[in-house]
Amino acid sequence: MGFCSPVCKILRRGKYFVLLLLSLSVLAWIATFSGETVKSLQVSSATTRTLVKDRDSLRDKVNSPAPDRLKTPPPKVQCPQESPLLQGALKLSFESSLKLKDVEIENKGVTEGEYEPPDCKSRQSVAILIPHRNRERHLLYLLHHLHPFLQRQQLHYAIYVIQQAGDATFNRAKLLNVGYLEALKDYSWECFIFHDVDLVPENDYNLYVCDKQPKHLVVGRNATGYKLRYKGYFGGVTAMTKDQFLQVNGFSNTYWGWGGEDDDLRIRVELQKMKIMRPPADVARYTMVFHKRDSGNEINKDRMRLLGRTPQVWKKDGLNSCSYKTLSIERLPLYLNVTVDIGKPQS
Ligand code: BGC
Repeated sequence: MGFCSPVCKILRRGKYFVLLLLSLSVLAWIATFSGETVKSLQVSSATTRTLVKDRDSLRDKVNSPAPDRLKTPPPKVQCPQESPLLQGALKLSFESSLKLKDVEIENKGVTEGEYEPPDCKSRQSVAILIPHRNRERHLLYLLHHLHPFLQRQQLHYAIYVIQQAGDATFNRAKLLNVGYLEALKDYSWECFIFHDVDLVPENDYNLYVCDKQPKHLVVGRNATGYKLRYKGYFGGVTAMTKDQFLQVNGFSNTYWGWGGEDDDLRIRVELQKMKIMRPPADVARYTMVFHKRDSGNEINKDRMRLLGRTPQVWKKDGLNSCSYKTLSIERLPLYLNVTVDIGKPQS
């Protein structure tokens, strides 16, 4: 029709204007959107970097030592030079009603005769060797006192009872050689205590540890007015390191019956230029549980002759010539019970 009214013209121009506005806002929106994408890409790469960094620090954390409180079990510190548990002179009891079960209940920390302090690393590992035959009551009293005594000293220890099988004459020294050799099959004990079954220590400052020189722990006992029996006395309870005992070739195997074997060991020690040490007399005190002389352990009348030949024979008579047959090893709650056939005296 070729005709457009002024209103129509205004409307047509307005349409272009709206179109222009629309295109501008689309452009503006595109510009905004792309900006955000860049920004969000930047954010996400930053996040990745953070994660990588976190993963690295996690690896560092995993590989670095854990804080102490998380370690199980915590490393044990060495026990103090002097145990804080020591009590000094003790009142000993020898109740006739005492049972082995009572002693087991009182010593829950002992397993198969062995104990380790729970809170610290002991300064020495000590094997206690007790030669034995038919002295059950004495053994019970000794175990009753010795276990808590050793625990108060914060020792890693085990008690070995070496039983002589059969009824041939008793040989304390040879049983102790057997105990040493058998105990070393269990553990590399640093220190050995050679202990009579009828001697009970009275004071826990009498330390059952070894020293640079062999130690004699019985200065006095009730039966003899707490006096040293004679200058060279080396019997009852003695302490020697694994190496000291090896150096003297252990005890002689030839002392059957009572007496002489401890004097023989002293001679061996002296031949090696070692010096016997003793704790102070007020500490090295023992109660001897009364008993009659055992049958099968008669006085060895030959002991003086044997002592005279020690310097000539010690190298071939001792640990290196100790022949025996182990009949059984029972791992009882409070001690290791080693039963051996050690033969009989050669006539
Ligand atoms: C014996 C030792 C004994 C000492 C103390 C000595 O005559 O030879 O074996 O230990 O007396 O009774």
